Amino acid sequence: MMLSKQQLNCASLLAKNTMHKTKLLHFFMNLAALIKETISSQQHDNAGESDIIDEELENIMNCPPPQYDDKEYWDLRYERDPESFEWFQPWSRIKSKVIQYLQKDGQVLNVGCGNSTLPIEMLSDFNGTITNIDFSSVVINQMKKQYESEKRLVWVNGDCMSTPFENESFDFVIEKGTIDSFVCTLESTKKIPKIIEEIYRVMKHKAYLIVISYGTPSTRNTFFKSSQFDWCLQEVKEIEKINEPGTFHYVYIWQKN
Ligand SMILES: C[S@@+](CC[C@H](N)C(=O)[O-])C[C@H]1O[C@@H](n2cnc3c(N)ncnc32)[C@H](O)[C@@H]1O
Repeated sequence: MMLSKQQLNCASLLAKNTMHKTKLLHFFMNLAALIKETISSQQHDNAGESDIIDEELENIMNCPPPQYDDKEYWDLRYERDPESFEWFQPWSRIKSKVIQYLQKDGQVLNVGCGNSTLPIEMLSDFNGTITNIDFSSVVINQMKKQYESEKRLVWVNGDCMSTPFENESFDFVIEKGTIDSFVCTLESTKKIPKIIEEIYRVMKHKAYLIVISYGTPSTRNTFFKSSQFDWCLQEVKEIEKINEPGTFHYVYIWQKN
């Protein structure tokens, strides 16, 4: 059972451009199970062909669903595809929504930086430093090498649930797609609060947290509204998705009291 080049390209495009890769894989796995069941119930005459199909289906069924909270998954992805990939929106489209909150000489933290061009593009809009953290050592090494002459970009290989930063170090924290990438994982309810707690710890008083997400306020605000956090949601802004007119990403602006 071979897939055509066009089908493979389509699958790879879907997988690359959607946060619902896990759902997509589950869908294909269920489909594979259904096909397998149908084939065996038909008691196929041609034993040779049936064996090959069985083997192919077994491969698909054994493929583990991708885990966006798994470091190895991201390391492998960045090794295979080192070119810059921008989740959701580029800085050029985010800028007008948040620039008023960015201090000219501020300290910025970019959580789960990946290989987005956001930090390099952001530099021309202020004079401070951007610290970029990601738990994939592969992507951090790639970014260090690519931007080694840019001293205002700092690259840190670390876990955003437990960072090496001092309390109250940053004026402006931005996270684009990192919390979202935990939403479909098995341990989302444990891990998302840990990330938010850590972000809150390293924010200065009056600092801003900018969250760029595909999730609507009703699905995201509950994570941030907890009695342990003394902050206010200043605004929620929408940015139209690039290839899907009429649908939006959300920009949440929280300010620590
Ligand atoms: C959906 S990508 C977003 C990348 C980038 N922010 C962007 O907008 O293009 C999520 C990133 O978070 C990183 N990540 C996931 N879990 C992490 C963790 N526990 N600590 C640090 N980085 C993490 C992944 O390695 C990946 O680069």
